[in-house]
Amino acid sequence: MSEDIKVIAFLGSPRKGGNTETLLNEAIRGTDVDVRVFDLNAMDIAPCQNCGGCEETGICIVPDDMQDVIAAIREADRIIMASPVYFSGVSAQAKTMIDRCQQIWCEKFLLKKEIPAGEFGRRGLFLVVGGMKNTAGVECAGKTVTAWFRTISVPEHKTLSYTRVDAMGEILKHPTAMGDAFEAGRALLR
Ligand SMILES: Cc1cc2nc3c(=O)[nH]c(=O)nc-3n(C[C@H](O)[C@H](O)[C@H](O)COP(=O)(O)O)c2cc1C
Repeated sequence: MSEDIKVIAFLGSPRKGGNTETLLNEAIRGTDVDVRVFDLNAMDIAPCQNCGGCEETGICIVPDDMQDVIAAIREADRIIMASPVYFSGVSAQAKTMIDRCQQIWCEKFLLKKEIPAGEFGRRGLFLVVGGMKNTAGVECAGKTVTAWFRTISVPEHKTLSYTRVDAMGEILKHPTAMGDAFEAGRALLR
């Protein structure tokens, strides 16, 4: 596939070099193209205030880093979300950004405008890591991310989820995770 394809990724973990980032980096390596990574923990993104400011225009009135994110989502052909499970959902860093995509929800469902896909179509990948054995967390996180992907006009995505991965670096000991991530990154561009 062309080198012109635009791939963006969201890192929802604040732990530098943690399991989520390690997995994401491997998926990015698999794509073999330049990927713009948004390190959500380092960004200025305020929570959605449900002020209604985007309802008639589809444009959020809060001036922060989200404007840059929305512009990148509009242009992206492939979108990767990577998050740890926090209290049975995605991290606050990921959820805050996701909620601010309400402006795209308004554009799509109130103003009836779909974000048009480019020549490569639009596809997604969700990487999620939880420390517990219980799968409820990765499942709940998956529901949120599915709702987000569909809202931003990503019609299909693959999910790689890993439970019982808790301590720093533990993902490296998982028998398949790194290979899965590399292959999922590769498949995203195929
Ligand atoms: C605030 C917080 C909440 C967490 N809640 C859950 C949870 O509900 N379920 C779970 O499986 N793991 C939970 N974990 C464990 C993390 O998902 C796990 O440590 C993961 O590997 C962290 O990824 P990271 O290395 O990228 O930070 C929680 C961790 C933190 C810090």
